[in-house]
Amino acid sequence: MSDSRQVGADPDGQADAESNTDETGNRRTAGETILAAEGLRKSFGGITAVDGVEFEVERGTITGLIGPNGAGKSTTFNLLTGVHTPDSGRVRFDGTDITGWQPDRIARQGLVRSFQIARELEDMTVMENVMLAPPDQFGEGFWASVLPGFRGRVARQEAELRERAWETLAFFELDDLANERAGSLSGGQRKLLEMARVLMTDPEMILLDEPMAGVNPTLEEKLLDRLHELQERGYTFLLVEHDMDVVMNHCDPIVVLHQGQVLAEGGPQLVRNDERVLEAYLGGTVES
Ligand SMILES: Nc1ncnc2c1ncn2[C@@H]1O[C@H](COP(=O)(O)OP(=O)(O)OP(=O)(O)O)[C@@H](O)[C@H]1O
Ligand SMILES: [Mg+2]
Repeated sequence: MSDSRQVGADPDGQADAESNTDETGNRRTAGETILAAEGLRKSFGGITAVDGVEFEVERGTITGLIGPNGAGKSTTFNLLTGVHTPDSGRVRFDGTDITGWQPDRIARQGLVRSFQIARELEDMTVMENVMLAPPDQFGEGFWASVLPGFRGRVARQEAELRERAWETLAFFELDDLANERAGSLSGGQRKLLEMARVLMTDPEMILLDEPMAGVNPTLEEKLLDRLHELQERGYTFLLVEHDMDVVMNHCDPIVVLHQGQVLAEGGPQLVRNDERVLEAYLGGTVES
């Protein structure tokens, strides 16, 4: 995992601009597949929620995953992040077959989804929430008592973690709220905090299921702005979002699901004008 992706590691974005582009100024990573869904299928009882879903996500994109209610978007997310195991099909991330892996292992590999702030975390401060996010933290228990030098290392690690937490909070303009209860945040601030928590796990690719739901227009702007800033720094996003303005203006490409299958995919213009997509959203019969 490269440090250049770390929030705050390079406030003016200089190093990132260099590390993500080649000598001609093109993105070095353009065209590279980071995530592939290969023939994913998942049934619940008699309902086939995901029925042979196949698509690829290119590194460095904000890819949209859309479709009418019940199309299979959330189930697809769950298959990609290990919450559900597919009945058949594969998930490939960064060249590794991660099918059947547990969610925490997938997260450590760099594919992370955002989670709502759990109830228990609402009574903690914003800073504590961010500090608690990274996986693989050690700092207590058996090893601390037996390994020489471990305590010093833990203290150093803790200081580094705290610094990164501050940088991440500042990136989302949440630093002024560091000592507030997480439970006291507005809907939009919560979404920013959820994003901050995701970033602390040092992901490569982030999956967001309706990140703009319940967010006021001002914070929505801020969230979208941060999303693009992170994209510039080399992160990849897969976004499920119902707000078509958000999708059409901020996602490219867009994958359209309908009845558990990929109905269409392409740039916003292409998808917007696709007859089958219109029909799917209007509830009409779709012929392929
Ligand atoms: N755990 C489950 N048990 C039974 N059926 C499920 C389960 N999860 C999803 N389904 C069904 O699978 C289909 C796809 O659901 P899914 O939640 O993936 O759709 P979605 O595209 O996310 O919809 P929405 O836009 O409403 O969030 C639906 O018919 C849903 O009822
Ligand atoms: Mg859903």
